[in-house]
Amino acid sequence: MEKEEILYTIKGLPPFPETALKAIKAVKDPVSSAQDLVNIIQYDQSITANILRFANSAYFGLQVRVTSLKQAVAYLGSKVIMDMLFLSGSLSYFRGEYDGYGLKGEDLLTHSVSTALMCRILGERIGLEETSTVFTAGLLHDIGKVVLSSFVKDRYDEIMQLVTYENYSFVTAEREVLGMDHAQVGGEVAKEWGIPEEIVRPISLHHQFEKAPLEDISTPLVFLSDQVSFVVGGTMGADRWSFKRIKEALTRCQLREGDLDGAMLTLRESLKEVQELLRS
Ligand SMILES: [Fe+2]
Ligand SMILES: [Fe+2]
Repeated sequence: MEKEEILYTIKGLPPFPETALKAIKAVKDPVSSAQDLVNIIQYDQSITANILRFANSAYFGLQVRVTSLKQAVAYLGSKVIMDMLFLSGSLSYFRGEYDGYGLKGEDLLTHSVSTALMCRILGERIGLEETSTVFTAGLLHDIGKVVLSSFVKDRYDEIMQLVTYENYSFVTAEREVLGMDHAQVGGEVAKEWGIPEEIVRPISLHHQFEKAPLEDISTPLVFLSDQVSFVVGGTMGADRWSFKRIKEALTRCQLREGDLDGAMLTLRESLKEVQELLRS
């Protein structure tokens, strides 16, 4: 059966960069210091180079030129550094052709980054104490597509049959035909990579936020950001809009429809800067 094959493929994925995972543990540990974070990252040249490049980008608009990791941590804070660690750790997965979903070139990258940025923008709007968790969950929410794409491609006609004639959503049809949908697969990938549980759940349930406990804001927030980010950039692909569900997610996050307008404007600006940065 496909499900076993899918799980087997997940096990075969290259691991998430060790440095990023270690650094994330350090950021979460209340007794560790900024210096500990620097000590962990400094031996990884490519991550260090990425952080310095990000720190000096227009997105942050710092008035000074950041030349060391220590400075980057001091100016941006360890939480922002953590966001960058996740971004630089997952970049290689996001560039590629994922035919099953009609995703080409930078499509998945653009969509993942838009969703992550939207999560941060809306998270700030809600007044979340820290927005790193939702940023990362937004960034990785569709990581399951990387694994599931070829399975979807093989059974595409059957999936589309359900979507077209039985009124299934694409995700439900994936689950029906393959035994798992890309959100559940993404959750398994994140678990396999040792990513913390509070990030795994919003990934697994980003198309079924109604299943998350009411006190969990991250899951409906990722759902919302995913849906809304399509308006600003990227292709909707096989997923579908649902206004009724957007309203419900807004209520769960204690946001109003009007909040989305301002957020979309901010996203448009940020996305432009981040895309420039990723291109350089
Ligand atoms: Fe999705
Ligand atoms: Fe998505």
